[in-house]
Amino acid sequence: MRLSHGAPGAKVLAFGGYQPAEVVTNDDLAARLDTNDEWIQSRVGIKERRIAGPQESEIDLAVQAGGKALAASGLSAEDIDLVIVATCTLEAQIPNAAARVAHRLGIDAPGAFDVNAACAGFCYGLAAASDAVRAGSATNVLVVGSEKLSQWVDWNDRTTAVIFADGAGAAVVGPSDTPGIGPVAWGSAGDKAEAITVRGRASFLEQEGQTVFRWATTALHPVALLACERAGVDPADLAAFVPHQANLRIVEAIARKIGADKAVVARDITLAGNTSAASIPLALSRMIERGEVPSGGLALLLGFGAGLTYASQVIEIP
Ligand code: UT7
Repeated sequence: MRLSHGAPGAKVLAFGGYQPAEVVTNDDLAARLDTNDEWIQSRVGIKERRIAGPQESEIDLAVQAGGKALAASGLSAEDIDLVIVATCTLEAQIPNAAARVAHRLGIDAPGAFDVNAACAGFCYGLAAASDAVRAGSATNVLVVGSEKLSQWVDWNDRTTAVIFADGAGAAVVGPSDTPGIGPVAWGSAGDKAEAITVRGRASFLEQEGQTVFRWATTALHPVALLACERAGVDPADLAAFVPHQANLRIVEAIARKIGADKAVVARDITLAGNTSAASIPLALSRMIERGEVPSGGLALLLGFGAGLTYASQVIEIP
């Protein structure tokens, strides 16, 4: 007996992004911390970021982004049978985010699980969604990256408060005759697990910035190139490069090393800050909205962060 399988390929049908309303500028932070606009822009590349208020949870952010992606996909809630939420900033660990997000969006009884691979989480979730569609485990999948980092940041710590922000981004993944999501190149470096931590319930996010910076600018471009190789894509043919928006200097260093000369490089960090698992779908949804990237073109995604974890894949832009 042969077991059946799913569609020959999976593709992203649509993206959606959401940012909370409150804008926090560098000058706002400089008014309460020993920092300044010049340092933040030159070292990190951020001009402003968005922060969710006490009434808006990471679940609310996920519902907004997920709802937009679903509407843009042309599917309805009943078409979705798996929901994956990538997040590392839930206020409470139980229950998970995915089941609550699905319920709020009117998606009835889907498979629902969270992924914690920190800032790489969206790419891990997208890989799981693609594999589920091709294996026949799901037909259409909603993948959301949602973070409320503001509730885990010490607002008196200038080394983290200027970097992290809140937001969400989502993608709807469905079946296709040809692959629209390439094989993932993923991995981890647990020997550096101490570089980014939240040590306990009463602790804030801490990071060894320079350790992560060195690792990100030296170890990750081979991962991105491997994702291209696994997809059979020449980096010169990429229409977009959308790495995790950790630091503009990291984004530009990796972009230089992969030789994606025609690609539009995501620089969403400027106005969004570092939103961890949300940053890639949020950035790409905005690039699509602004008409900066062509439908049908190829985008290289690269997530990396705490763990340390990383994941990269090439996708066809919806
Ligand atoms: O998304 C998860 C993955 N995370 C990352 O990818 C983060 C990677 N790391 C980074 O992006 C950078 O290392 C940071 C943005 C975190 C820091 O930039 P840096 O260029 O590595 O600065 P540094 O830590 O070497 O600090 C340089 C100086 C220090 O002062 P001294 O010791 O030279 O007097 C810091 O105390 O800058 C000082 N400093 C600040 N000054 C003004 C640190 N934070 C601030 C600040 N404002 N906010």
